[in-house]
Order: sequence, then structure tokens, then C-alpha cells
Amino acid sequence: MLRIAVLGAGRISRIHAANVAANPQASLVLIADPWRDAVDELSAQWGCEGLYDYSAALLRDDVDAVIIGTATDTHVDLLLQAVTVGKAVLCEKPIDLDLAKARHAVAEVERLKGRVMLGFNRRFDPDTLALRQAIDAGAIGAVRQVVITSRDNALAPRDYLRHSGGILRDMVIHDFDTARHLLGEEPTEVFVMASRLVDPWLAEIGDYDSVMVSLKTDSGKQCHINACREAVYGYDQRIEVSGASGVLFNDNQRATGVRTWTAAGTDTRAPLLDFFLERYAGAYRNELTHFIEAVTADLPMPTTVRDGLHALHLAECGLRSLASGTVVRVPAL
Ligand SMILES: NC(=O)c1ccc[n+]([C@@H]2O[C@H](COP(=O)([O-])OP(=O)(O)OC[C@H]3O[C@@H](n4cnc5c(N)ncnc54)[C@H](O)[C@@H]3O)[C@@H](O)[C@H]2O)c1
Repeated sequence: MLRIAVLGAGRISRIHAANVAANPQASLVLIADPWRDAVDELSAQWGCEGLYDYSAALLRDDVDAVIIGTATDTHVDLLLQAVTVGKAVLCEKPIDLDLAKARHAVAEVERLKGRVMLGFNRRFDPDTLALRQAIDAGAIGAVRQVVITSRDNALAPRDYLRHSGGILRDMVIHDFDTARHLLGEEPTEVFVMASRLVDPWLAEIGDYDSVMVSLKTDSGKQCHINACREAVYGYDQRIEVSGASGVLFNDNQRATGVRTWTAAGTDTRAPLLDFFLERYAGAYRNELTHFIEAVTADLPMPTTVRDGLHALHLAECGLRSLASGTVVRVPAL
């Protein structure tokens, strides 16, 4: 039984708290956040303790591991504090928006031999796990190209966008990680095109809402990521992996697979699952299970802070490509 504290009481921490409470291999000891109302509500919901101070939570002897689901600019400080006092950590992405700060944090975690998993939940989505297994089993031969479509259903509020770090570091960071995971090699070239097709206001904060990213590895494998902050038909998440002897498709998910044929139309189906909390509900559960297994069995972390650094590094190179309008060579980390 792993004794877990959830740091944060916002959107993502609510998911983690619910999953810890439901997991038979874990116990939810406490939830901590300076946002008192949210802590009171969540701790009452799950029958655990509520604290208004992260540091106090980290000093508790009855806590083995912490999940960091707080705002991005608090991650580095909290994860280094946690590692220093010997707690295992599941930290939300991104490590930080600043590459130099993230690089320093990763060096510290590795120096202290910290047990930190980075929350790239999509790797644990049942369909992505199946894609990786099929690739490993040789179902399509050597991978040649990966195509990722990643469109949010609706543009996030402006206040969120202002602090997000931009579409590449905030949203496409997941897809950079998926690209690395499915290509099985590090991308060494990046080219990005970006536009403001949803909301021209994004120019005021130097951000974009629609991007196309091309990645290439030294052996020539390619990945294309198309991402948009809005898709009026719903949350659009698809992956295609082509190889020497076939193609794997990971299509969108819906509440049911039923198709209706009437005079009004054929092949009418339930809408796409609404947003990331619904679409990736299973991924968050599996992510937690993998974390618990890695900590309790002392196995390597399935996703590491170094994975987080690689994804952030690709986002930075993507920004450089945008600024220069050229293909950017990805320097070694
Ligand atoms: N893996 C995923 O799919 C996924 C999805 C959503 C969010 N996230 C990540 O999770 C983190 C939290 O996102 P969210 O959507 O839950 O945000 P949120 O705003 O809903 O919650 C953030 C929490 O951090 C606390 N907080 C904010 N600023 C703070 C500060 N300066 N000091 C101390 N505490 C502070 C708030 O009280 C709040 O409880 C972000 O890093 C985000 O990138 C990951």
C-alpha cells in the first residue's frame, strides 16, 4: 500500500485524488493546496486530511509518495523538495516553462537519485499502449512515419492562455513525447509552421492556435503533428503509425460504438468524447498504476524527468524554427 499525498486541488489534482482513492494499492493520506476552499471540499469528498501548505505535506512521515498537480511554475521547487526528503514523485508536465531551469532540476534529480515520474499520461492510454505493443511485436515492421492529430474542442480562456507558455510548450508537449515514444528514436530536426486561425488576439501574447510540426530522426524516420486549439466537432485525437509492412490507426473514441442509419443520414454516431479529462480518463488511471508499481517494486520509472526535458527541448527548438522560418537542428541535450 503506497501512502500518497496530492499537492494541488485544481483540475488535474482532482483526477489524481479520485484515482488514488480508488486504487487498491494506494491510500490517499492528504491533499495540500493554499486554496483552502478547494482543499476542504476535496478532502471531505475523499475522507482524507487537508493541508494548506505544501511543505508541511512533504515533511510527513506517513507519506511515501507525492503527486505534484500544482501550477507549472511551482513544479521544480516542489519536486526538488520532495526528492530531498526521499519521497517518490509523480510530477505533472511540463517540468517548467524555462529550459535552463528544467535542465537544472533534471540534473539535481539525477544527482540525488530521486524517484520521479513525469506525467506524460498519454503513453498510458490503453490505445497508445496497444500501438507501442504492436510496434514492438513487429506488426508493421520498422516504423517509418508517425502522424499525430491533436485538436482541443474549444479555445481555453484567455487568462489560461496568457500563462500557458504557448501552444508548443503547453499543448504540443504531449505530442512531442508521443512522437519520441512511437518513433523510438530522438528527433534531430524540427520545422514548425504556426497561424492564428481561431483567435487573432493571440498575437498580443506572441502565441498561436494552429500549428504543423515536422520532425525527423537521424535515421530518417519522420513525424508530423497537427495541432489546433479549437475543433468545433469535439476533442480530436488520432494517431497513425506506418511501417515497412503495414499501418496502425488509433481513432477517436466515443461514448458508444453504435452507428445509426435513418433518412436524416447514415453512419450517425455518438459525438467524440468531450475533452482530455474524459478522453484520457483511462490513461490517468494507468499512469498511476504504473507509478505505484515502479515505486513499490523499485523498478525504473516508466517516464522520467529526462523525457520531460527532451519534450521541452523539442518545443524550444520548434520556437526557434518558427522565429527563423527554417528547419532547426536539435542540439544534443
Ligand atoms: N497531464 C495532463 O493531461 C494535464 C492536464 C491538465 C493540466 N496539467 C498540468 O497540471 C498542472 C496544473 O494544471 P491544472 O489545470 O490542474 O491547474 P489549476 O489552475 O486547475 O490548478 C492549479 C493548482 O495549483 C495551485 N497554485 C496555483 N498557483 C500557485 C502558487 N503560486 N503557489 C502555490 N500553489 C499554486 C492552485 O491553488 C491550484 O490548486 C499544470 O502544470 C498543467 O500543465 C496536465
